[in-house]
Amino acid sequence: MGAVMIEVDALRREFGDTLAVDDVSFNVEEGAVFALVGPNGAGKTTLMRMLAALLEPSLGTARISGFDIRERPREVHSLLGFLPDFYGLYEDIPVYEYLRFFYLAYRLPGGLASRRIEEVLAQVGLLEHAGKDIETLSRGMRQKLGFARALLHDPKLLLLDEPAAGLDPGARQEMQALLAGLALKGKTIMVSSHILAELEDYCTHVAMLDRGRLIFAGSLAEARRRLPAGRRLRIRVASGIETALSMLETMEGVSHLERRSTDAVFDFAGDDTATAGMLKALVGAGIPVIFFGEVAGTIQDSYVALMKDSR
Ligand SMILES: Nc1ncnc2c1ncn2[C@@H]1O[C@H](COP(=O)(O)OP(=O)(O)OP(=O)(O)O)[C@@H](O)[C@H]1O
Ligand SMILES: [Mg+2]
Repeated sequence: MGAVMIEVDALRREFGDTLAVDDVSFNVEEGAVFALVGPNGAGKTTLMRMLAALLEPSLGTARISGFDIRERPREVHSLLGFLPDFYGLYEDIPVYEYLRFFYLAYRLPGGLASRRIEEVLAQVGLLEHAGKDIETLSRGMRQKLGFARALLHDPKLLLLDEPAAGLDPGARQEMQALLAGLALKGKTIMVSSHILAELEDYCTHVAMLDRGRLIFAGSLAEARRRLPAGRRLRIRVASGIETALSMLETMEGVSHLERRSTDAVFDFAGDDTATAGMLKALVGAGIPVIFFGEVAGTIQDSYVALMKDSR
């Protein structure tokens, strides 16, 4: 990390009287997996279409790997792959031919077409459907085809607008695994969603939009620190849960303490140092701690809290 992949610079977009994106500025580092979250109408799609150099800003600009989206749209198109929010494909051409069309439109080396198309089809799990007509594909398969298309030219940056929308739980998991794999390969990924909890496991950064305004942009750790009520922790012990509970009860910053089988679950108002101190105190008192961690969904909590603050 370090180098900046996306620089959003006072970007603004109006549609008539609607201010869809309101002077938004933030940076995305190379290699980051950046979640873009916000309620319906927050401006996520508008922001992504501008970043993909597909929609003109009203004011401000953005740079992708240093290329200005207004002045250098061609370079921007070649650097990124975009998966639009609604992938309406009803063509009666086979999957393979569809990708071949875009492969050639990208002016990629023709001799390598079949190899590359098979590669991306395998990557998204569509290889066995290569010969099917697009109109016969399910929604999940079409989403995968959109993904394959975005990957064809092996872009450094992927902009994915709600890639999991309309997918069943199994397909969502496949999509997550695909994203995690691309992140491991060093791709920079910006992915939008209503549901931050789904992205929490593999995103590194988050930007929160509400009614066009940027409420927060930063690392997940920074987002967690913005949690007004501290964090919710879960501790599991091999034995002696009662002793652990009575110790926790007396600790500063602990509230809403509950016992769940061999686990203690509670809110903790302390910072990282205090949290580490708590674990040390428990282990030091001879309590056999086998798990100590945050309860999932805390980023979602901080998102909800930040949204409330902004209104
Ligand atoms: N082409 C357009 N013409 C007019 N208004 C538009 C257009 N596109 C978006 N808007 C408006 O801009 C605002 C932001 O819309 P946008 O689609 O960017 O939100 P979003 O965060 O992607 O929402 P969702 O979660 O529903 O996808 C909304 O008020 C929307 O009605
Ligand atoms: Mg949208």
